[in-house]
Amino acid sequence: MPAEDKLFTIRSAHDIDFPAVIDVLRTANMHYIPSPEMPELDLYCCCVAEVKSRIVGMSGYKILSAREAKTTLMAVLPEFRGWGIGLALQEWRMNELCRHGIQSLITNADRPETIAWYKRHFGYREIGSLPKEHEFGHPEISRWTTLQVDLTQWKEKNE
Ligand SMILES: CC(C)(COP(=O)(O)OP(=O)(O)OC[C@H]1O[C@@H](n2cnc3c(N)ncnc32)[C@H](O)[C@@H]1OP(=O)(O)O)[C@@H](O)C(=O)NCCC(=O)NCCS
Repeated sequence: MPAEDKLFTIRSAHDIDFPAVIDVLRTANMHYIPSPEMPELDLYCCCVAEVKSRIVGMSGYKILSAREAKTTLMAVLPEFRGWGIGLALQEWRMNELCRHGIQSLITNADRPETIAWYKRHFGYREIGSLPKEHEFGHPEISRWTTLQVDLTQWKEKNE
C-alpha cells in the first residue's frame, strides 16, 4: 500500500464517538463497559485515530492522584495495525499526562507481544501481575501483567 494511503490523524475523543470506540474495542474483546474490569470510560480522557474520517483506534487514561495515572484502554482495528497508529495513540496519552504533571504511569497488559512493545518503545518495566476479574482482552490469558513507566524520564529522552 502506498505510504500516502496510510495517513491517519489523532484527536481528542467526544461523547458522540462512543459507538465507534466500542466497535474498535470489540475487535480486541475489550468492549465490556460497564463491567468489573472497566466500570466506565471517560471519553474526555481518550483520543481516537482516524483514517479518512473513520475511527480506527483509541486510547485513554485515568488520573489517580497528583503524580500517578493509569492507562485505561487502547486498541486499533486489526486491518490498521502495524501502521504506527498504536505508537501515536500511546504518545498522545503520555504527553497529555506529562502536561498534567503526572510522573508515574501504570499499564495492565495481557498479550506478550504488547508487553514487549510497551517495554521496547516506551521504557516500561514489569512491576507485578494480577488476576482478571472476568474475560476481558485475550480470552486465553487470565492475568494482567502490570507495567510502570517514569514519565519524567520518558519526556527527557524524547525532547
Ligand atoms: C497494541 C496495539 C494497540 C498496537 O497498535 P498498532 O497500531 O499495531 O501499533 P504500531 O503499528 O505502532 O506497532 C505495532 C507493532 O507490531 C508490528 N506489526 C507489524 N505489522 C503488524 C500487524 N499487521 N499487526 C500487528 N502488529 C504489527 C509493528 O512493526 C510494531 O512493532 P515495532 O514498532 O516494534 O516495529 C494493537 O496491536 C492492538 O489493538 N492490540 C490488541 C489490543 C491490545 O493489546 N491493546 C493494548 C491494551 S494494554
